[in-house]
Amino acid sequence: MSNISVIAGKSSEELAKKLSGKLKANLVKSQVRIFADGESKITLDGNISKKKSIVVQSIYPPVDTNLLQVLSLISKAKENSSQVIAVIPYMGYARQDREFLPGEIVTMKVLGKLFKGAGASKIIAVDIHSTIGFKHFTIKTKNISAIPDLVQYFKKLSLTNPLVVSPDQGGKDRAQEFAQEFDSEYIALEKKRDRKTGKVQIKTKNVEVSGRDIILVDDMISTGGSIINATKFLKKQKCKRVYVACTHALLMNGAEKKIKKAGVTNIISTNTIPGKTSIVDISNTIAKAII
Ligand code: R5P
Repeated sequence: MSNISVIAGKSSEELAKKLSGKLKANLVKSQVRIFADGESKITLDGNISKKKSIVVQSIYPPVDTNLLQVLSLISKAKENSSQVIAVIPYMGYARQDREFLPGEIVTMKVLGKLFKGAGASKIIAVDIHSTIGFKHFTIKTKNISAIPDLVQYFKKLSLTNPLVVSPDQGGKDRAQEFAQEFDSEYIALEKKRDRKTGKVQIKTKNVEVSGRDIILVDDMISTGGSIINATKFLKKQKCKRVYVACTHALLMNGAEKKIKKAGVTNIISTNTIPGKTSIVDISNTIAKAII
């Protein structure tokens, strides 16, 4: 048996398989039965290395179920391995990293305690919403960028005078990183989100995008509100095609359809969350971060 075991959580089975191949590790699959009351019953298929285990599980919906499953897998791995690394390609709850309104619970603080308590010595995430979330963790953390992988995909497209656009100021650095790798210009729009209703609005007045193809770069798409508002705004400013490059495509409540209706030509995302748009594989980038 290899010195490393990759334990595949149900939410990241394919990615874990790819990762185990790249690390030449032994793959341990998990079987999950969901009881009528919603409890997860997990059974592992195979032996866990005594030395090092890598648990792979994204925390997308059902978020709390996937969270408890990954904590359980870490706990089981720690019973066997001296070192347990948790790879959480999509870190759910990362947007709850500070108290925006009085009384709000900073859930990332809770997650920090839970991962440590379960037995993880290090957490690796891909494009976490903000690294502020990891400041609440006392174990080692690492955030990996999926931008170089996304850029490789976009380099194969034939685009007209492309402009990289972030739908908000918070994503400015991400857009800059993309633009640098892609060798193009970038801008960041100004977005306002109502903290109570979640509704978003674009505050930017005018941008010069006429006749240019746009690559909207974001870390994640949930309801699609941010992308839809930015697309409508850019279309009004007479841009050409709008493509979306995002790391995590949650695409909740029919978001894909709504985004296409707003005028987006194509959504390209990574396989941190499996789905129709998840065509960019980031297993190689994760493997490099582990070695
Ligand atoms: C916000 O700051 C994030 O970077 C995303 O733009 C946002 O979370 C996406 O959510 P939604 O698709 O619901 O607008």
